Amino acid sequence: MRDMNAPDLTIGVIGAGAMGTGIAQVAATGGITVRMFDTRDGAAAASCESIAKRLAKRAGEGKMPQEEADAASARLQPAATLQDMADCAVVVEAIVEDLDIKQALFADLESIVAEDAILASNTSSLPIGAIAATLDKQDRIAGLHFFNPVPVMKLVEVIRGPQTTDAVMDALVALGKRLGRTPVVVKDAPGFLVNFGGRAYTTEALAILHENVATPAQIDAVMRDGFGFRMGPFELMDLTGMDVNFPVTRFVHESSFGDPRLRSTPLHRYMVETGQLGRKSGQGFFAYGEGAQVPSADTTSDAAPAAAVFVHGDAPELGALATECGANLLDADDGKAPILAAPVGEDSTAYAARNGIDHRRLVCIDMVPDTSRRVTLMTAPGADEGVRASVVSLLATQRAVTAIADSPGFIGQRISAMVANLGCEMAQIGLASPSDIDLAMRLGLNYPKGPLELADALGADVVHTILTQAQALSGDDRYRPSQWLRRRATLGLPAQQM
Ligand SMILES: NC(=O)c1ccc[n+]([C@@H]2O[C@H](COP(=O)([O-])OP(=O)(O)OC[C@H]3O[C@@H](n4cnc5c(N)ncnc54)[C@H](O)[C@@H]3O)[C@@H](O)[C@H]2O)c1
Repeated sequence: MRDMNAPDLTIGVIGAGAMGTGIAQVAATGGITVRMFDTRDGAAAASCESIAKRLAKRAGEGKMPQEEADAASARLQPAATLQDMADCAVVVEAIVEDLDIKQALFADLESIVAEDAILASNTSSLPIGAIAATLDKQDRIAGLHFFNPVPVMKLVEVIRGPQTTDAVMDALVALGKRLGRTPVVVKDAPGFLVNFGGRAYTTEALAILHENVATPAQIDAVMRDGFGFRMGPFELMDLTGMDVNFPVTRFVHESSFGDPRLRSTPLHRYMVETGQLGRKSGQGFFAYGEGAQVPSADTTSDAAPAAAVFVHGDAPELGALATECGANLLDADDGKAPILAAPVGEDSTAYAARNGIDHRRLVCIDMVPDTSRRVTLMTAPGADEGVRASVVSLLATQRAVTAIADSPGFIGQRISAMVANLGCEMAQIGLASPSDIDLAMRLGLNYPKGPLELADALGADVVHTILTQAQALSGDDRYRPSQWLRRRATLGLPAQQM
């Protein structure tokens, strides 16, 4: 195995598309000589030129020294044939996502490169083991999965195939670091880490929309304001494009033999079928283009704010919120005033029935998210409209209010619990270490917290309660807690505990 930190290191990049170009750029700026090959005439040279232009622009803007930009550009070498890969220490493949074509390329490379050279694939969905399966020497094949755009996205997943040696894995981790990335070692499983773990955020949002609980704008606002996500799930899907996120979602679901945790909704497919792809087509869950406006997520009311409320159950923070908004707290239910409660995992209907409360005057508030900017409230079917409106007016004096239909776990509890649970499941199946799962999800998807960190911020027991309640009330095994989570919640341990 060659030293990945050697000053004269040369690597090959096959495929001069979006990914190959990005990989070549970070390699060249990492001081590595890069041979680029593409079957499309002139593509490799064009890619090298586009990188040189990009680096010159960065230097012009003062973002990197001119000499560094010039030196990096000089390290880029378009290759005329695959034979030019003969002296490369590593060849990274970033060609079309097709198993047969990738296998044929690696078979050709096997006969060209040196005995100690490493062959790596940037595939986003094909098993590394399947790519390696037809090769003579399978212990030097691994996945090196970058994210788009490569120069911006710091994460690289290093994926071990069935026969990949430790030395190859170590070398690729070292190479990843030299490319300025943060490498995370991941198991060879469908979607690897980030494309698998990224499902719950959007699929649970789609489930909430499917049940007519809330609108895309409301769901997005709750996840931004209540949990610090930079983008709501629907803005995110519109940005990546339905033609990208629907196939990945379907692939991960099918590869997991239809695990209901990973299930999407008919609307997701319909968006693709009707060309509502998101930003790129001008219309997705939201409209884009001139004059387009994001619908408001805020519920308002002209009703007089409730002057007095009764807070049911042990919910001091809810009481404090009602007081801050100007309501008097009653010591007991007076049979007239709104009854406020903060259920965890239950909907208003189940909460009212279990506690023998008048469901018409019950208004449930989600106290699990950060409520300093926005609060979500919900009521049971048959709720008194006047009572609901008076509580909306009350809370709107101090917060943005999002009023939704009855739902076990509101919006925020449901989505955050599903994200945390999928993180726990990734730890359970050994996809990567708990700390690497969190790191990868923060870097790969810009999550404010990794899924296990999120579970611990909410409390592993709280997440477990949300899920078991949602599973019991919906009858849907989509909400079944990961055994990883159940054990830690039962023992009072953090979700990050090994
Ligand atoms: N685009 C992404 O967001 C992304 C992210 C991670 C991984 N990936 C994976 O990276 C790979 C490349 O994706 P991309 O988006 O850069 O694709 P792309 O279509 O932009 O580029 C692919 C390039 O490969 C070339 N090519 C095709 N067959 C070839 C062959 N046999 N030999 C040499 N060159 C060949 C094509 O001419 C093209 O220039 C795929 O496996 C994809 O799944 C893509």
